[in-house]
Amino acid sequence: MAKKEVDVVVIGGGPGGYVCAIRLGQLKQKVICVEKDEVGGVCLNWGCVPSKALISASHNYEKAKDSAHMGLIADNVRVDVAKMQEWKSGIVKKLTGGIRGLFRGNGVELVMGNARVTSPTSVEVTLKDGTVDTIVAKNVVIATGSSTIEIPTFKFDGKQIIGAKEAVSLQEVPKRMLVIGGGVIGLELGCVYQKFGSEIVVVEATAGLLPGVDADITAVVEKKLVKHGAKIMKNAKAAGYEKNADGSVTVKIDVGGGKIESVVTDVVLVAVGMRPNGAGLGLEEIGVKVERGFVPTDKVGRTNVPTVWAIGDVSGVPMLAHKASKEGEVAAEVMAGHRAEKDWVAIPGAIFTDPEVAVVGLTETQAEEKGMNVKIGKFPFAALGRAMAVNETDGFFKVVSDAESHKVLGVHIVGPSATDLISEGALALEMHAFLEDIGLTIHPHPTLGEGMMEASMHGLGHAIHVLNR
Ligand code: NAI
Repeated sequence: MAKKEVDVVVIGGGPGGYVCAIRLGQLKQKVICVEKDEVGGVCLNWGCVPSKALISASHNYEKAKDSAHMGLIADNVRVDVAKMQEWKSGIVKKLTGGIRGLFRGNGVELVMGNARVTSPTSVEVTLKDGTVDTIVAKNVVIATGSSTIEIPTFKFDGKQIIGAKEAVSLQEVPKRMLVIGGGVIGLELGCVYQKFGSEIVVVEATAGLLPGVDADITAVVEKKLVKHGAKIMKNAKAAGYEKNADGSVTVKIDVGGGKIESVVTDVVLVAVGMRPNGAGLGLEEIGVKVERGFVPTDKVGRTNVPTVWAIGDVSGVPMLAHKASKEGEVAAEVMAGHRAEKDWVAIPGAIFTDPEVAVVGLTETQAEEKGMNVKIGKFPFAALGRAMAVNETDGFFKVVSDAESHKVLGVHIVGPSATDLISEGALALEMHAFLEDIGLTIHPHPTLGEGMMEASMHGLGHAIHVLNR
């Protein structure tokens, strides 16, 4: 049983934990990061990164098949799933290898094992070979992330009843896929398999897809899914399933009013959310507050026990990699004696459906609910030459601003490259920008970014390439 002494031990090597550890290393702190699976966490290993690889492959496949109107004829375009998976795994390997390299370069020690907190300043790690190490640290950071929620009546079997982890590693394209949960994961992966040819059914418990996103925005995504043959069942709950003799699965869906509908499918993807991994780490035993699996913190990331910190999914919503990384940096700065705080104006969200969705700040409805008088500027992608040239014209920009001061309150984009374009909106909010700041900035032509300028000008009543009210 080895004993190590450090300034900080970080439990979890996902986008929260690894960023925190690297920043601590940069700030000359002696730091150990403990990881039980693979550095990079859910995000790099089976979440954000692998899913985006498959999403981009599915777009390329669709474009290769459907570009005859541009004069591009590609016959017999096929999907080689094994090759695609190999390519995807190569990306993951490069990125996780990169983190290990950054750890080495910044003096971060990586310990592979399962950690448990034994006091406000010590952690026990069960290593892969079963031996137990003790790490004594001035500060302990909990960065254990979140896990997929399972529905009791749909226990994962790894083949036909699956979660996102299995869905990014399927070895063949299913003929039919039923997705339970019309949230981020369900729609991103639903879009992927729809492009590869699966017939998609989405079963969503609430009245709308993508909870929390502006309804005008989700309508664009829903329309495209349906146009390509998806069946969207809203206010519906999957109640149970039976396996059939031919290998298919019949899913019973409670559509309300005492009615049950049956859908026959090949694969059921369960994507009903993630739950925080705050329990079972020994935290309650040492007096750290854990609420429904979350570990609450203050503005710098400290829990109610001053030497214990929490960052990322385990510390609260939204469960997003970039929020985790930022919290990791803030906590690292403070632990190293600098001033920092979780003082951002807004956290952008990026959803890789087709078309993409990206949001930052208040929606029109949220602003109105706060009693604000808002001005809306809108601009369609269809009015941008560049959008026509890239053959993706669905969607629009929507800039929500204060009607009197013109201060930008929120930016909501659905359309091509929305996830890249949103950073301008995030910067606008952080800089407390006004419509004039965006609208009077020269945006290069011909680019998709012109839509931000035009939507802001539309809010001011003088967009050029669309009629103003
Ligand atoms: P989610 O919370 O986005 O969506 C879950 C959906 O399932 C909701 O619409 C909910 O109403 C529905 N639902 C819940 N129980 C149901 C039931 N029994 N039957 C039918 N529908 C039901 O969760 P999701 O998609 O699993 O994603 C998990 C987390 O991962 C999210 O917190 C998200 O922030 C994060 N994520 C973010 C991504 C991104 O930013 N691009 C990509 C993937 C995940």
